Amino acid sequence: MSQPLRLGIAGLGTVGIGVLRIIRKHADLLAARTGREIVISALCARDRSKDRGVPLDRYGWESDPVALATRDDVDVFVELIGGDEGPAKVAVEAALATGKDVVTANKALLAIHGQSLAELAEKHGRALRYEAAVAGGIPVIKALTEGLVGNQFSRVMGVMNGSCNYILTRMETSGLSYAEIFAEADGLGYLEADPQLDVGGIDAAHKLAILTSLAFGTQVNFDGIVLEGIERISIDDITAAADMGYKIKLLGVAQKTGRGIEQRMQPCLVPDTSPLGQLDGGTNMVVIEGDSIGQVVLRGPGAGEGPTASAVMADVCDIARGMRGPVFGLPANQLAPAAPASSSPPAPYYLRMALDDKPGALAKVAKVLGEAGVSIDRMRQYGHQDTSAPVLIVTHKTTPEALAAALEAMAGTNVVTGSPVALRIEAV
Ligand code: NDP
Ligand code: HSE
Repeated sequence: MSQPLRLGIAGLGTVGIGVLRIIRKHADLLAARTGREIVISALCARDRSKDRGVPLDRYGWESDPVALATRDDVDVFVELIGGDEGPAKVAVEAALATGKDVVTANKALLAIHGQSLAELAEKHGRALRYEAAVAGGIPVIKALTEGLVGNQFSRVMGVMNGSCNYILTRMETSGLSYAEIFAEADGLGYLEADPQLDVGGIDAAHKLAILTSLAFGTQVNFDGIVLEGIERISIDDITAAADMGYKIKLLGVAQKTGRGIEQRMQPCLVPDTSPLGQLDGGTNMVVIEGDSIGQVVLRGPGAGEGPTASAVMADVCDIARGMRGPVFGLPANQLAPAAPASSSPPAPYYLRMALDDKPGALAKVAKVLGEAGVSIDRMRQYGHQDTSAPVLIVTHKTTPEALAAALEAMAGTNVVTGSPVALRIEAV
């Protein structure tokens, strides 16, 4: 058997302790599968005295992640601290610069600094692996870089934030408001310390930025993502969408368009019978489309101790076997700058508005849609509430620009109360 692979693990929270547990539980299995013993040289967290439910006294300890990352008895630095700046970034850079391989679950770090870290890893001939960073336990990085490597990809999309999917699903099943279910999710500990990372779509967008780079050979470009969270989704929209045969999902979409690489993370409608439409609770799903494979749907746990640690171990084992490759699938200097697409391709849209319940009101709305070139596919009006009536419209495919023009003109009709809600319907 080859020399043991020696790890230094920084961060002993949910994921770090999960990794420790797998290494302790499956030591023989991992050695048999990789041909090397996988051992832990030392650990690092903020509080050494904290009871973490696993005995730690047999391992070395560093209170500074950089000291751990640069130890002579560490071959692979496993970064499980988190955050796109601060100790995680400094320690990962130090590890690569001192010739260590790095495994991380840190999507924020890769989404913001992926290009410079890839360049640094290549400069020093080291691996930088991050299977756990996108969709937790789902092996989506391997799917794109290994299993589907013979494909030209046209679209990658998915539900990649379990907390948002939990909130949207619970709103639907309970009929309760966004605020009530947000409080419930928070109470259950499902949300990040800064919940805006979840409900604002930022966490999921970090993941999308990484997938875009892998799928389309572009530099990671988080700032190029059209980003909108789920905060404005009301129970009325969830109910109305269901009535028209759709579910609302925080959907990330990266696709090649005639106008560049489009990246969107925003609430969308998907058919309720589709795999994405049937994805309930905190589960994640990634859909990959390639020219030879057609469509592949990957579904599984996107977070939590076991699933995330499972993905971290996939990277550790690859390094133990000597499997390496460019960080984002191509040498860093061949990754194209990712200019955002100038517009989204046409799509059908869902519109919900409150209309004055008086003669001619609907005709005025239909007129402004028609004048903007937006064609109505389906329409439904419900019994009026007070003086206004809820109206739902599903349009035929239209451009975002035509829709925006129609919505602007609608404001001038004086028959629509408040602002209409407009959500894209994604073909899945
Ligand atoms: P936790 O908050 O549970 O744990 C973070 C750990 O980092 C803690 O052990 C903490 O120490 C340690 N830490 C924080 N600051 C420092 C520092 N300055 N020096 C040394 N140690 C430090 O995070 P998670 O385990 O949930 O997440 C880790 C990474 O995995 C993140 O990048 C996250 O985005 C990613 N991830 C997490 C998933 C999940 O389900 N939790 C899913 C997918 C990815 P102490 O315990 O002493 O406070
Ligand atoms: N907050 C994230 C989620 C954790 O809900 O999916 C995993 O990245």
